[in-house]
Amino acid sequence: MTRATAAAWTKSDWRAKPRVQMPAYLDQAALNAAETQLAKYPPLVFAGEARRLKKALAAASRGEAFLLQGGDCAESFAEFSADNIRDTFKVMLQMAMVLTYGAKVPVVKVGRMAGQFAKPRSAPTEVIGGVEMDSYKGDIINDIAPTIEARRPDPARMLQAYTQAAASLNLLRAFSTGGFADIHRVHSWTLGFTDHDDAEKYRDLANRIQDSLDFMTAAGLTSETNHQLATVDFYTSHEALLLEYEEALCRVDSTSGKWLAGSGHMIWIGDRTRQPDGAHVEFCRGVLNPIGLKCGPTTTEEDLKVLMAKLNPENEPGRLTLIARFGAGKVGDNLPRLIRTVQSEGANVLWSCDPMHGNVIKSSTGYKTRPFESILREVQEFFAIHRSEGTVPGGVHFEMTGKDVTECTGGMRAVTDEDLSSRYHTACDPRLNASQSLELAFLVAEELQSSREALRAAV
Ligand code: PEP
Ligand code: CO
Repeated sequence: MTRATAAAWTKSDWRAKPRVQMPAYLDQAALNAAETQLAKYPPLVFAGEARRLKKALAAASRGEAFLLQGGDCAESFAEFSADNIRDTFKVMLQMAMVLTYGAKVPVVKVGRMAGQFAKPRSAPTEVIGGVEMDSYKGDIINDIAPTIEARRPDPARMLQAYTQAAASLNLLRAFSTGGFADIHRVHSWTLGFTDHDDAEKYRDLANRIQDSLDFMTAAGLTSETNHQLATVDFYTSHEALLLEYEEALCRVDSTSGKWLAGSGHMIWIGDRTRQPDGAHVEFCRGVLNPIGLKCGPTTTEEDLKVLMAKLNPENEPGRLTLIARFGAGKVGDNLPRLIRTVQSEGANVLWSCDPMHGNVIKSSTGYKTRPFESILREVQEFFAIHRSEGTVPGGVHFEMTGKDVTECTGGMRAVTDEDLSSRYHTACDPRLNASQSLELAFLVAEELQSSREALRAAV
C-alpha cells in the first residue's frame, strides 16, 4: 500500500484547500468572535476516549465486535430535550441487546448525537413561494424558517450548538454510568408505544437475558461485583462538515502530543465532501480520532486508494471506517470492487453499512421518505457480499429516533404514504422510528448469525 508518512499538518491547513458545502459567512468579525470564543471552551471529549473507541472499532473490523451507529439526520435546537435524548438512547440500548444476543460479540454504541448539526445539501439555494434563499444547512449554520434572513448563515449559532452538544453529552454520560444502562434494567428500556410483534420479540429476549442474570446473581456475579454489568460505553459522532467549528475545538492531547478533534469521539467525511485534495480530507487526516468515510456509487477505486493512504497512513486498525451507502440494488455493482481495492492495498478498515442515504425517494404524497423494504434490502445485500468475499461486515449506520414518528414507510406496523403527514418531524432526512429500528435490529441479528455460521462452516 502507498503509505505516505503523515505529512506535516496544522489544524488550519484546510483553509488553503478547495472547500465545498461550507457556508460563506458575510460578517467576518462575527465569525472571528465565535471562533475565538469556541477555542476557549473545553473540548467535549478526551483523547483517551477516542483511543478506546478506536480499539473497539479495530475489534469490530476483525469480527470480534459489531458497530451500531445511529441517531438523528440533523439534531435541532427546537427538538432539544432530555426526553428525546433518553428515548434515542433507550432504543439504541435495546438494539444493542438484540445484536449482542444474535452476534455473540460486544456491540460498540456510537450515537449520531451531541454534535450532528451541519448538513450538506444537493443545492446551495432553493426557491420557496417565489423567493430564492439559502438552503437550510443545519441549525449550527442557519435557521430552517423559510425567509432570506433566517437562512443567512450566522456564526453565533456555533456557540449554541456547542452548548447543546455539551448538555447532551453530559446526559448521555449520566445515562451510561449512572444506573440507567445497568443490564438488569433490560426490561425498562421498552418504549410505551412499541406494543406489537417486535416488542413481543424483545420481551422474550429480555426474559431470556433476565434468566441468565438471575443465574449469575445466584453465582455471585452482580452489578456490584462486576461493574461492566452496570455501565455501558457510549460514544458520540457527527459529520465534520463545518470546519471552522472543528478547528476551534481541536486540541493537543498532552499524552501523545497528537491533535484531537474535541467535538466528538468519531467524526466522518460525507459522500459530498470526500474530494482527496479537498478541505475536509485535509482536516480529518491530522486528528487522532477514529474517522468515518462515506462510500457511494461515485467512489472510484483510485480515489479510495488515495483516501486510505491519506487518512490512515500508518494503516492503524480502528482508525478508518468505510461506511457503504450505495442504495438497494446497487450494492452488488459497487461494494465488491471497493472491497477488492481494500484487499489489494492490504488496508485495515472496518466496513459498515448505511442503508439510509442511497434510498431516499419522494412519496406519492410529496414527502421525502425511505421505504423500509429498501433499507432492509441494502443491509441484506451488504451482508451477502461480505459472505461471498470472505470479509467482515462490521457495523451498521442508521438515521433513527426513539420517537414514534412517521417518516420512513413500511415496517411491521406499516407506515403508509398517507401516514407520513401525521408525525413527520425531521429537520432533514426521514428517520426510522423506534419500532422500525428495533425490527431492523432483529433482522440484522439474523444476518449476523448466518454470517457467523458461514464463517464457522468455512474453517
Ligand atoms: C448523512 O449521513 O447525514 C449524510 C448526509 O450522508 P451522505 O454523506 O452519505 O450522503
Ligand atoms: Co441524512
